Amino acid sequence: MTYVVTDACIRCKYMDCVEVCPVDCFYEGENMLVINPNECIDCGVCEPECPAEAILPDTENGLEKWLELNKTYSEEWPNVTQKGDVPADADAWKGVEGKIEHFSAEPGSGS
Ligand code: SF4
Ligand code: F3S
Repeated sequence: MTYVVTDACIRCKYMDCVEVCPVDCFYEGENMLVINPNECIDCGVCEPECPAEAILPDTENGLEKWLELNKTYSEEWPNVTQKGDVPADADAWKGVEGKIEHFSAEPGSGS
């Protein structure tokens, strides 16, 4: 089992999650983060930290595609361990449905 970042993170990218992860297993894309499922120790501390409620345990139904996306991009994007700049319009994207349309495969800067 692992935790996964879902589409609720897209364009919100608050990054409160990276500050609490004890094993630094978040990876940064241009407009969202992902978790490396092989590194996550399942501690669950990041889940309540996310203002967008984007982090879920993979035991919840229907998360297979998000687990796959977290796995794929955590191998391509840079590791991030510190909170960086939050998008200026993050709050406007919080809770918006169907954000997968806005997913960017481009890597973020990492930190
Ligand atoms: Fe990190 Fe724990 Fe969240 Fe996994 S569940 S990503 S180890 S904080
Ligand atoms: Fe994304 Fe939430 Fe972290 S919006 S960057 S999963 S705090």
